[in-house]
Amino acid sequence: MYSIVPDSELHTTTLNKNHNLSSFSCLSQELNDFLKNDALNDQKNMISRTSLCFWKDELVGFFTLIADTIEAKAVIDGIEHYEYRKYPGVKIARLAVDTRFKRRGIGTYLLLAAIGKTLSVCENIGCRYILVDSKKNSIGFYQKNEFKLVEKYKNREFIPMYLNMQPIIAEINIESND
Ligand SMILES: CC(C)(COP(=O)(O)OP(=O)(O)OC[C@H]1O[C@@H](n2cnc3c(N)ncnc32)[C@H](O)[C@@H]1OP(=O)(O)O)[C@@H](O)C(=O)NCCC(=O)NCCS
Repeated sequence: MYSIVPDSELHTTTLNKNHNLSSFSCLSQELNDFLKNDALNDQKNMISRTSLCFWKDELVGFFTLIADTIEAKAVIDGIEHYEYRKYPGVKIARLAVDTRFKRRGIGTYLLLAAIGKTLSVCENIGCRYILVDSKKNSIGFYQKNEFKLVEKYKNREFIPMYLNMQPIIAEINIESND
């Protein structure tokens, strides 16, 4: 059993053409292929934006964000008398940790980094939720981090999950007023 990698030893940076992605390998071939073959092109086309995470010069994980929405009826913590069909959000389109570095806190670090980027969106643009379509075997990971699943879609191959940014921002504002 390896120990948790301290956050202070991890750093993220936006994917660019000079990065060498060849060593990266997680359990999902689809995620490996996306990172190596499609992520940069999608980024150029402004479809998605990918952040890489390094530990001691080693690529240990990545996440990819896109703009998205969630059906208003799908969430249990919506706004009363909300008049639109959907809420705006940022979606974690991909997130993965290299298999060699699993269960060392890096997934949690990536999730917090994605939430951090969403916070900066929320400062400028209406964005109530951070969203993810989770693989079945990753639901527990997101639930540990306070994401709720959309009950009516829980039998889908990828289960929509969401985290309300409003309480997170309220907490940050309280702390900054202390
Ligand atoms: C899911 C994934 C990102 C987790 O990354 P990780 O670095 O291993 O996660 P962490 O070490 O930060 O784990 C944080 C907590 O979640 C738990 N956890 C991790 N993966 C889990 C899983 N699949 N199911 C349930 N709990 C999980 C850990 O035990 C840990 O709990 P603890 O704090 O009580 O010990 C990683 O396993 C992965 O890349 N999987 C393949 C790709 C994938 O499924 N991505 C999600 C796309 S939807």
